[in-house]
Amino acid sequence: MVCLAALALVASASAVLGETTPRGSKASCAQFSPSNISDVTLTAATYFHAHARVDISNVFSSINTTDLPAFCRVELKIVTNATAGSFAVTEVWLPDAWNGRVVTVGNGGLGGGVTVEDLGAVAVPQGFAGISTNTGHNSGVADGAWGGPHNDNAIVDWGWRAIHLSVLAGKEITKQYYHKVAKRSYYVGCSTGRLKEIQNFPDSFDGIVVGSPAAWMSHLQPWSVHMSLNVLPATSSRFIEPSVWTDVIAPEVLKQCDALDGVTDGIINEPRACFFRPETLTCTPGQNTSTCLTEDQITTIHKLYADYYVGDQTYVFGGFYPGGEKAFGTGLVGNPPFPLSQDWFRYFVLNDTQWTQEQYNTSLLALGEQLNPGQSDAVTPNLTAFADAPHNGKVLHYVGWADQLISPGNSLHYYETVHAFARANTSLAVDDFYRLFPVPGMNHWCSGPGANSFGGGSSQKPPLSFDAEHNILGALMRWVEDGIAPSKIVAVKYKDDVPANGVAFTRPICKYPSAVRFRGGDPNSASSFFCA
Ligand SMILES: *[C@@H]1O[C@H](CO)[C@@H](O)[C@H](O)[C@H]1NC(C)=O
Ligand SMILES: *[C@@H]1O[C@H](CO)[C@@H](O)[C@H](O)[C@H]1NC(C)=O
Ligand SMILES: *[C@@H]1O[C@H](CO)[C@@H](O)[C@H](O)[C@H]1NC(C)=O
Ligand SMILES: *[C@@H]1O[C@H](CO)[C@@H](O)[C@H](O)[C@H]1NC(C)=O
Ligand SMILES: *[C@@H]1O[C@H](CO)[C@@H](O)[C@H](O)[C@H]1NC(C)=O
Ligand SMILES: *[C@@H]1O[C@H](CO)[C@@H](O)[C@H](O)[C@H]1NC(C)=O
Ligand SMILES: *[C@@H]1O[C@H](CO)[C@@H](O)[C@H](O)[C@H]1NC(C)=O
Ligand SMILES: *[C@@H]1O[C@H](CO)[C@@H](O)[C@H](O)[C@H]1NC(C)=O
Repeated sequence: MVCLAALALVASASAVLGETTPRGSKASCAQFSPSNISDVTLTAATYFHAHARVDISNVFSSINTTDLPAFCRVELKIVTNATAGSFAVTEVWLPDAWNGRVVTVGNGGLGGGVTVEDLGAVAVPQGFAGISTNTGHNSGVADGAWGGPHNDNAIVDWGWRAIHLSVLAGKEITKQYYHKVAKRSYYVGCSTGRLKEIQNFPDSFDGIVVGSPAAWMSHLQPWSVHMSLNVLPATSSRFIEPSVWTDVIAPEVLKQCDALDGVTDGIINEPRACFFRPETLTCTPGQNTSTCLTEDQITTIHKLYADYYVGDQTYVFGGFYPGGEKAFGTGLVGNPPFPLSQDWFRYFVLNDTQWTQEQYNTSLLALGEQLNPGQSDAVTPNLTAFADAPHNGKVLHYVGWADQLISPGNSLHYYETVHAFARANTSLAVDDFYRLFPVPGMNHWCSGPGANSFGGGSSQKPPLSFDAEHNILGALMRWVEDGIAPSKIVAVKYKDDVPANGVAFTRPICKYPSAVRFRGGDPNSASSFFCA
């Protein structure tokens, strides 16, 4: 009965719309009744007129705007393991003015909630059918209590399963809604980067924009605890107050390194050229210690940046890079530290809700790596199935040089392993399918003093334009569909990060390993810079 009704709807809608002019509308949204998708149930379909108020929030993400074009919001329940009764909540936002493509938007950390912010900011305004999932649970970004102990299906859903099933379901929903198969499938996300999806399921996407991906959780979480234990407890002589980071260390890093790139603007364009020497801040006898550094603090700072300078054999990728100091004191090396890592060990690895990070020892690195909770580690350097013909998938990867939660070295490391693998084992040129764009002065989740908005999702402000010059998703589409690969993208910094306040400056972000260089002229204009 259900099938017959759905078939009748398809037939009549096709007759009215014709196969070549698929369109959404209030009526098609109200009547939408997807048929025959196993394990997928439609729970609601709600139509929003152009400029209607879209005021939706969940524990992870929210949106409140009247700026969107008309769309149909489809809410789904996707059963992820019938035996266990586990499921994910997924939404597909279907604009009336569809551009013929789908985009899946990502999540962050251990968080669970449909990323309604990016469905509204990235997908719908550009005409994409947008897909997002709660990853199988509801929680804030650093909260892992939902994981256990022993909630294995939820952890697998978070690790890869919910997003994979959501991409499949979202494509099918899109096809049934518009009576046409999407011609391309993209991904945009930051933090919980979905490299795993292209490694395991090369057909899911034609191209992905992946920002600061936490692709190696089993190394990243021990590393985060290790960073934190360099300074904690806060009563120790090693601890550095947040105000010392912001008021003492940050200005000194700029003093030593800001001008190296030819322009003194509060942004370290090329942190790899900066070898910060904290000794210049050594306290003199009797000096107020909130204005200088003690010997123990100087030793600590060398440790925090050391991995970046020399490489670390235990955790593999490096430590802090100079330029993010204003955010360091409230992140991993704050008090309390960013709590994600402790929760990961408690609920995903040790099954011990009382465990505290002071109990950490390096043998837990091997344990975490061996358990690989949710199979979330996404470090295989073999991207051949995704990148090679006939698929020809593309990756645009960005990372803030001033990331305070995941070392930029994590991104560089993955990029280098893909190169090494391709050189040794394939005839592929990595530059033909994978490009990395470090962003000067950008923190994790896209804040910070640099030009931090270029269409990369995850709380970025809108790009200056949705074209391929200013919008990394536009650049990806042009690469996938027209074969024109980007080597720079013009990012924008809004005054106080508020678009309504106007543009503070524009600045290119450059394809690694090239860096942003000052040509001369107005430092607020991207045209005064080049990539070399
Ligand atoms: C339902 O799905 C099955 C299996 O994928 C397929 O064989 C069948 O044709 C589908 N039926 C309809 C009405 O789409
Ligand atoms: C969304 O914005 C409207 C208009 O400013 C306001 O009335 C409403 O309370 C907001 N919703 C939330 C959840 O803050
Ligand atoms: C589904 O959940 C059950 C019960 O927890 C578990 O035994 C089984 O391995 C799970 N299956 C998959 C494919 O994850
Ligand atoms: C914690 O539980 C998971 C299964 O839920 C198991 O795989 C893992 O080995 C346990 N950890 C320890 C340290 O026993
Ligand atoms: C040290 O400096 C801080 C911040 O400037 C100030 O709040 C504090 O009172 C000073 N302490 C002493 C002992 O002067
Ligand atoms: C490391 O920590 C784990 C969990 O707290 C503990 O079981 C183990 O005995 C510790 N190993 C060493 C060598 O201290
Ligand atoms: C890389 O992956 C492809 C596709 O999955 C596989 O055919 C190939 O054997 C892999 N290459 C190596 C060297 O492992
Ligand atoms: C080449 O592929 C083999 C087989 O998959 C792998 O063991 C080796 O590490 C790869 N080489 C590099 C440099 O990644």
